[in-house]
Amino acid sequence: MNFKEEMTKRTERIEKVLEKYLPKEEGWQKNVIEAMNYSVKAGGKRLRPMLMEETYKLFGGNGMEIEPFMAAIEMIHTYSLVHDDLPAMDNDDYRRGRKTTHIVYGEAMAILAGDGLLNYAFETALKAFENNTDNTRVAKALMILAKKAGIYGMIGGQTADIEAENIGEKVTQEHLLFIHEHKTAALIQAAMMIGAVLAGATEEQVEIVEKAAYDIGIAFQIQDDILDVTSTLETLGKPVGSDEKNNKTTYVTLKGLETASCEQKEMSAHAITLLESLNMKNQFLMELITSLITRIK
Ligand code: IPE
Ligand code: IPE
Ligand code: MG
Ligand code: MG
Ligand code: MG
Repeated sequence: MNFKEEMTKRTERIEKVLEKYLPKEEGWQKNVIEAMNYSVKAGGKRLRPMLMEETYKLFGGNGMEIEPFMAAIEMIHTYSLVHDDLPAMDNDDYRRGRKTTHIVYGEAMAILAGDGLLNYAFETALKAFENNTDNTRVAKALMILAKKAGIYGMIGGQTADIEAENIGEKVTQEHLLFIHEHKTAALIQAAMMIGAVLAGATEEQVEIVEKAAYDIGIAFQIQDDILDVTSTLETLGKPVGSDEKNNKTTYVTLKGLETASCEQKEMSAHAITLLESLNMKNQFLMELITSLITRIK
């Protein structure tokens, strides 16, 4: 199988895992559950559950407890997108090739669907305790998920991102790195660290994974900033020019397209070097990381 076929196989498996854990659309909550499922089922690259499972495999993991965590991280990521698109935030009308959740279900339902997905992510991840597994590892994984999604992680980054709008030249590289690290790298770190922890990696190994995922996450957000100026709505499935519209400082506005592109390549290569230093083998994971620097969506 070539890389593309391997990727399709894994994406299909992740879709099945998600399907298994999504809530049923019934009861008086039907509307909010529909809005939750609408945003998750719209698709997306499923990068975070994929990185999680591949890191789990890198450390020899082969159990079932990874599945609820794979679903949980995609729910948290999807909630972050639903809220990110709201009029009060980036105010975007398309996501994953469809109208955004607030356009279809209204703002109130989109806010609640985001809240619902965040909470349901933890309801889902907690199911890992039902597997015949090491409870200490599951507890550690939950702590990572909670912290990297919260004010010291993704929410912290989204806060800094919104506050940095309109302050133009005052945004330094250090400031932008804080934003990118927290709004984007944090969930990528959570994905990979949870995979490592559940497979029984040592603390030192988890630290190396956290550093590599930092590089992968920053490189990923730099490419996202690049695509916001170079791509199209049809290819991306979300509007281009969103950053300019919102007066965001991005890697592209700060450093120009060429330097931004060079730096993301360097960071990606650095991540691979770090992971190779672990002396474990997962060829697909390395190819996946490398593929992100040339991704077109
Ligand atoms: C978009 O993430 C938001 C960022 C952190 C850049 P993805 O590019 O992974 O979005 P989906 O999941 O494929 O839709
Ligand atoms: C958002 O970054 C990262 C999140 C935590 C949602 P962006 O605002 O650049 O993400 P897109 O471009 O809308 O996907
Ligand atoms: Mg945003
Ligand atoms: Mg946005
Ligand atoms: Mg963007």
